[in-house]
Amino acid sequence: MQMHATALRKKVEANEVFDTHPEVSLDFEHVRTALKKSYSRPFLLVDSSIVRNKTRRFKIAMPRVKPHYAVKANPHPRVLQTLIEEGVGFEIASISELDLLINLNVSPKEIYYSNPMKSRNYIEYAASKGVEWYVFDSIEELRKIVSIKPDAKMYLRIDTPNIGSDWPLAGKFGTHLSEIKEIISEAAKLKADLAGVTFHVGSQCRNPQNWRVGIERAKKIFISMRRAGLNPRLLNIGGGYPVRHIKPIPSIEIIGEIVNTAIADLPEDVCIMAEPGRYLVSDSAYFVCRVVGTTTRKGKRWMYWDAGIFGGMIEVTEGLRYEILTDRKGACIPWDIAGPTCDSVDILMREEMLPSDMQEGDFIYIPNAGAYTTAYACNFNGFPLPDVVVL
Ligand SMILES: Cc1ncc(COP(=O)(O)O)c(C=O)c1O
Repeated sequence: MQMHATALRKKVEANEVFDTHPEVSLDFEHVRTALKKSYSRPFLLVDSSIVRNKTRRFKIAMPRVKPHYAVKANPHPRVLQTLIEEGVGFEIASISELDLLINLNVSPKEIYYSNPMKSRNYIEYAASKGVEWYVFDSIEELRKIVSIKPDAKMYLRIDTPNIGSDWPLAGKFGTHLSEIKEIISEAAKLKADLAGVTFHVGSQCRNPQNWRVGIERAKKIFISMRRAGLNPRLLNIGGGYPVRHIKPIPSIEIIGEIVNTAIADLPEDVCIMAEPGRYLVSDSAYFVCRVVGTTTRKGKRWMYWDAGIFGGMIEVTEGLRYEILTDRKGACIPWDIAGPTCDSVDILMREEMLPSDMQEGDFIYIPNAGAYTTAYACNFNGFPLPDVVVL
């Protein structure tokens, strides 16, 4: 079903663009059961059936758009296996991610190398394993790819607005519109197979119009490509589909209506894909960690967790707000929350309202934390990586 601008405006006015669909989280009883066994370090408990359901919901919302999961969001093999069973393709940033997929027998045809800046030996390795599709966003990278794999199928990452995204990705990547003409003529001159366009609206994007703008830009670029004798046949609408935390989000169905309308006039032979990461895995998991200690500094209450910025919680640094649950019932007071390392950047939240009676040893439960948590964690200061358990 497609939505006209007026119908959409009415929904916006009625505040209906936000997702009121009851979000499904992992059943908390699984967390209780896991904790009854033992606790030695922070862990992520993932329910693979939620990953399946989210994948199906995504496909229903955008029937013409084939999801290619962004492995970086959660590269656990069981998560990847679940997505393989759901018929999803993949997007990779590195050759270690490629190896993970090859070990799970994913066809290289289903793997898109979507990191716009790749080292020469990574491209050589990917080409030797049969990866066909490569992104670029600069003349230099275009030439690099062509010099290694002249028959590579390539897609151009363009700049697109990241307004309203909790984790913006604009700036570092994306060809500016003023540079596209030169890139297209260079691709034509090199006889390169510049076959598509992609963009990323920013992760946890709460503004569905960003996708419309990206698609409109891509369609204009397709016209210029055809004029230059190229054969554009891939539109990759990237990632960014948001999940429920604290702030309201547009539902995947609303995003789907905007995307479906914007792609409706694209010829059938144009393949349309997306690269959802967060959307497919976030809701499936609880992240569990523990209070190492509490104290009062200059009149402020502080608590230290055994997982901080280096232990899986880095996304709070860019404004992502998690729901934080505890077993305490005391009245809420403002807490400053830090991770366990000695680094002064390892501060997670300021004045977060949590029960006044929180103490050393209390557990912290964070729902919808299956994406970009454990995937980011490192051993800094010798703290162990969080465990990942997939049900
Ligand atoms: C190229 C690319 N595609 C897809 C994604 C996935 O984005 P998200 O998890 O917001 O859907 C990312 C995330 O950084 C990315 O860099």
